[in-house]
Amino acid sequence: MTDKPRVWVSRPTFPGVIARLEPHFQVTVEAEERKFSQSELAARLAGQDAVIVGLKDRIGAAEIGAAERLRIVANLGVGYDNIDLDAMSAAGIAVSNTADVLNESVADYTWALLLGAARRMSAAERWLRAGHWQATEFKAWLGTDVRGRTLGILGMGRIGQAIARRALGFGMPVIYHNRTPLPEADERGCNARHVDKQQLLRESDFLVLALPLTTQTRHAVGAVELAQMKPTAMLINIARGGIVDDAALATALRERRLAGAALDVFEGEPKVHPALLALDNVVLSPHIASATTETRRAMTSVAVDNVLAMFGHGPQAGRPPN
Ligand code: DGY
Repeated sequence: MTDKPRVWVSRPTFPGVIARLEPHFQVTVEAEERKFSQSELAARLAGQDAVIVGLKDRIGAAEIGAAERLRIVANLGVGYDNIDLDAMSAAGIAVSNTADVLNESVADYTWALLLGAARRMSAAERWLRAGHWQATEFKAWLGTDVRGRTLGILGMGRIGQAIARRALGFGMPVIYHNRTPLPEADERGCNARHVDKQQLLRESDFLVLALPLTTQTRHAVGAVELAQMKPTAMLINIARGGIVDDAALATALRERRLAGAALDVFEGEPKVHPALLALDNVVLSPHIASATTETRRAMTSVAVDNVLAMFGHGPQAGRPPN
C-alpha cells in the first residue's frame, strides 16, 4: 500500500515493538547500527514522514534539506543534543525524546560506576586478568567507603532524583545544584538539599553529573571547577561527554588533584581521550547507562508511541523536549 506514510528507523531495535507501526506506515529499518555521514542521513530522511533516530544521528538543517514530508524526529534517548531544535522548529518538524522510562536503569548504573570507582573494581579486575594475583594481601586494593560521604548531584531532573533516592540505602547525605531548586516536597522525597555550584564542588565526596548538554552546560566542569573539588573526591559522569573538559579531568586525575572518576560518556565518543585511557584511577564505560533489555525496549516503545500519536493513532506517551 504505497499511500501509507513512511517511517525510517536508523538502527535495528526491537522488531516486535517496531511492528506496531506496520498497520499504519511503510517502515524501513536499517539492518546494521552505524554512524551515517551527513549526506547519507539527508538521503535517508528524504521522502520520510517520520524517523526514529538516536544519539549517533546528528540531525540539523542540512540533513532535513530534502525531507519535505518529515513531521517528526523521534529520538531514542532522553538527551537530544544530537538534534538541532531551532532547525526543526523552523521547518515545523516535531521532536520527541524518551524521558522517564530510563530513569531507574540509569540511576542503578550510576551507582555501579560510583561504587566501582570507590572500590577500584576495574583496575583490580585488569590486574587479576593479567595474572598478577599471587597472594591475598590484607592491605592490597584498598578502596574507600561511601557511607557518611557526601553525594553531590549537578542537574536534579528525574534521573538526578532517582540517583539521590538510592543514597539513603548507602547512608550518604545528598546535596545538589540545579538551575531551579526542587519544590520542598520533592527535596524531601529524595533527601537532598540545594546548594550553589561552588558549595557543591567544594563539599561533594562523589559528584555525579546528571544535566543535559546545552551551549550553557558545555564544559560546566573544567579546570577551574576541578580545582575547587576535594583531592579525595571522585567525579561520575552519566550525562554527556561535552559537559566535562576531558583533557582537564585527565590532568587532575594524573596529578592526584582528584582521587578518581567514573565516566560513561566522553567528548567526541566513541573516541576516548588517550590521557584517560592511560590512567588507572578512572572507570570507563561505553555509554551504556540505559542499556538494559527492558529499558531499551521501553525507549523503543515510547518512540513508536510518539510517531503513532503524531499521525493520530493514539495518545502521546513521551514528554516532548522543553
Ligand atoms: C539518553 O537517553 O540520553 C542516553 O544517554 C542514551 O543516549
